[in-house]
Amino acid sequence: MDLTFDRRHIWHPYTSTLTPLTCYPVTSAQGVSLYFEDGREVIDGMSSWWSAIHGYNHPELNAAAHAQIDKVSHVMFGGITHQPAIDLCKKLLALAPDNLQHVFLADSGSVAVEVSLKMALQYWHAKGESRSKFLTLRDGYHGDTFAAMSVTDPDNSMHSLYKGFLPEHIFANSPKTGFWQEWDESDLDDFTAKLTRHHTEIAAVILEPIVQGAGGMRIYHPKFLQGVRELCDQFGVLLILDEIATGFGRTGKMFACEHAAIEPDILCVGKALTGGYMTLSATMTTSKVADTVCGGEAGCFMHGPTFMGNPLACAVATASMALLERNEWQQQTKQIEQLFSELLPNLAQYDLVADVRWLGAIGVVETKRPVNMEAIQAHFVEQGVWIRPFGKLIYMMPPFISQPEHIEKLVDAVESALKREECFSG
Ligand SMILES: Cc1ncc(COP(=O)(O)O)c(C=O)c1O
Repeated sequence: MDLTFDRRHIWHPYTSTLTPLTCYPVTSAQGVSLYFEDGREVIDGMSSWWSAIHGYNHPELNAAAHAQIDKVSHVMFGGITHQPAIDLCKKLLALAPDNLQHVFLADSGSVAVEVSLKMALQYWHAKGESRSKFLTLRDGYHGDTFAAMSVTDPDNSMHSLYKGFLPEHIFANSPKTGFWQEWDESDLDDFTAKLTRHHTEIAAVILEPIVQGAGGMRIYHPKFLQGVRELCDQFGVLLILDEIATGFGRTGKMFACEHAAIEPDILCVGKALTGGYMTLSATMTTSKVADTVCGGEAGCFMHGPTFMGNPLACAVATASMALLERNEWQQQTKQIEQLFSELLPNLAQYDLVADVRWLGAIGVVETKRPVNMEAIQAHFVEQGVWIRPFGKLIYMMPPFISQPEHIEKLVDAVESALKREECFSG
């Protein structure tokens, strides 16, 4: 591969053209393994940013893509519909919380979040109320587009860079009580105070249920989410749950909101929707929200991306949902959780480690110093694993099909990195 061209001309996520970091050339992938051009195999601990839940090159997902591409790979969704979209939306509504009845298909997670915020704004507009604020949590992450950025943690994000362009929303303290800890009611104090004070201007609360992902890999107590739902009901504010990272089994439940036995008014999904094969997302809502939006001045929901409902993506997503319907993911994520619960506490003995935590197929090692990305990435590859940390967070979100030896290899690699001074900066 022409890596010199890549280095000179191709922008990778969050990288500099002045000092680009090493990129590893992948030529194929199979099951839980990625294969580099030089023949090296690495065990994937990331599921390609939490999306490839069934592993790579899955025969049933491949078959769905092959079958669909010979029929129609894309067609506009305005005025036209197709079987892959109908099949997918039937399955999505069957899996999602019962109150959700309408599906809006979009292109990426960030766009699903934009769509959810627009739905909430149009809902209040249709009701004749001017509500333009969102209440969200510190340490959250909802994507890189403008509205999504505006509800992402104001300190740990691009807020300062885009000051003046980003609308200013309301941030409550994120919950401190971990998933496995004893619930501390005071966790809800700041959220309650902010909702009480601003509820007449708040269109919706938006948050990541149970696991705050890219904003800090924080795994919090279900009672917090229950409290949020109760408060939203009490103050008549919509609740948007962003399950783009947590949806489809990652936390050991189909959707993370099930840990708290609550239902959102609007739900965003993406990432694992197609089993990581291609980009597709969905925003689902209740009949009440959908009908109110459409009963308003505009007479419809004002959004319609070119690649909305892409048939190829829908066909693969339907096959991915069919795999989930077999319920093997429950046993698989339980086994991964069990392994993380046995292996990760051993890493807490290292001085460098601030905390270890886990839930479902998520394992996190928080360090006291930030990683040196170039060095730790090279070390992981040398150890035969693919783990891509950020800041002080070394985390694993392996494909559900990972076997105990794969999880052990991932955790061993993390442990060996903790012993290497050059893998950390500061
Ligand atoms: C919770 C959450 N919301 C939204 C997004 C944005 O999704 P995408 O990168 O597909 O735009 C992400 C991506 O990491 C996410 O974790």
